[in-house]
Amino acid sequence: MPYAHITGWGISVPEPVLTNDDISKMVDTNDEWIRERTGIRERHIAREDQFPSTLGVEAAIKALKVANIAPTDIDLIICTSSSPEYIWPPTACLIQDQIGATKAGAFDLQGVCTGFIYATNMAAQSIRSGSIKNALVIGTETLSRFINWKDRSTCILFGDGAGAFVLQASDNPGGILSAVMRSDGSGADSLILPGGGSRFPASESTIHENKHYVHMDGKAVFRFATRVMGQAAKEALEKANMTTDDIQWIVPHQANYRIIETAAKYLKMPLDKFVINVERYGNTSTASIPIATVEAVEKGMIKNGDKIVLVGFGGGLTWGALVAEWTGPVPSKRNVHPEQYRFFARLRSLARRAIRYLEGLFSRREL
Ligand SMILES: CC(C)(COP(=O)(O)OP(=O)(O)OC[C@H]1O[C@@H](n2cnc3c(N)ncnc32)[C@H](O)[C@@H]1OP(=O)(O)O)[C@@H](O)C(=O)NCCC(=O)NCCS
Repeated sequence: MPYAHITGWGISVPEPVLTNDDISKMVDTNDEWIRERTGIRERHIAREDQFPSTLGVEAAIKALKVANIAPTDIDLIICTSSSPEYIWPPTACLIQDQIGATKAGAFDLQGVCTGFIYATNMAAQSIRSGSIKNALVIGTETLSRFINWKDRSTCILFGDGAGAFVLQASDNPGGILSAVMRSDGSGADSLILPGGGSRFPASESTIHENKHYVHMDGKAVFRFATRVMGQAAKEALEKANMTTDDIQWIVPHQANYRIIETAAKYLKMPLDKFVINVERYGNTSTASIPIATVEAVEKGMIKNGDKIVLVGFGGGLTWGALVAEWTGPVPSKRNVHPEQYRFFARLRSLARRAIRYLEGLFSRREL
């Protein structure tokens, strides 16, 4: 049975920064309160012309570059987002078109902030089963578009960004070693974006009632998160026949510094074994775990051979963790430039649209 290794990684974070002081000019809050309760100092907010696919494409191209494989080598793209570009088509298909992944199946996986754990595990299992060889997993958010900037209990928390992993099959042991995925839909109301789906389709009243914004019972989510995060990490380690002594790093979902502190206490692990960057990004939902992982790799904290735990929680309610051995890119003599495929991808996409247009004209005449 092949192993599924993480061989490529990349992130894309929009430049504009919104500090706590900036938010304190919009709602009744202040920097001290936000830092004390959440650990967040600032977050990045997408420009008007940046969408989940824009950020997702940038992260994906970087990940392909690190893995040194072409978009045309990708068999499967799983995109996970709490702020997808549309209800459908999947954001994964928009990314597939823009990067020129001509042989890939593409779908979105909705697991809210746990989405990246679920998606990475699903991609790994597809590789482990032997049905595919190369997968691209992307977590990408412009969640700022669904935030009520008049609600101080939510607008302080979230930020935008994207992260991507390339997973590849290999006969060498390593890569994704175990995973746990859990859910509890009885808590669906505690963290919800109620408007715009089929229960509350967009209408004047859904807009008046602010249903198109994130609604959250902060205390309930806090209690849930502190309970499940350490537990999930422990279960994933047990599944891999490991203990916390065997791992070098834990990369938790970056929602709140205090939640990470509680998980560290539960696991009896020092906080300096946790990768934490929530102070600079806030909660970027599905993108938070890859952004933190990639930063830790680029800073030389996570090294080849390290065993790590990725652990997340979020709306659903959902939570999960996976244990991985970080092995890095597969050595290869060829030098691939995935960014060059974007030009041809654009041409191909335009040509396909033109053909579809002409086919439409032609078939109308036939009728
Ligand atoms: C949101 C959160 C930071 C609030 O912290 P808290 O300690 O629970 O704060 P509370 O909601 O109890 O509010 C305490 C007081 O601060 C006030 N308050 C809330 N938001 C505030 C803000 N941004 N600035 C200043 N005061 C604020 C409340 O109105 C309340 O005032 P009151 O005592 O006069 O009624 C915290 O509950 C949390 O982080 N929850 C988890 C959220 C999360 O991670 N969601 C994403 C999961 S993927």
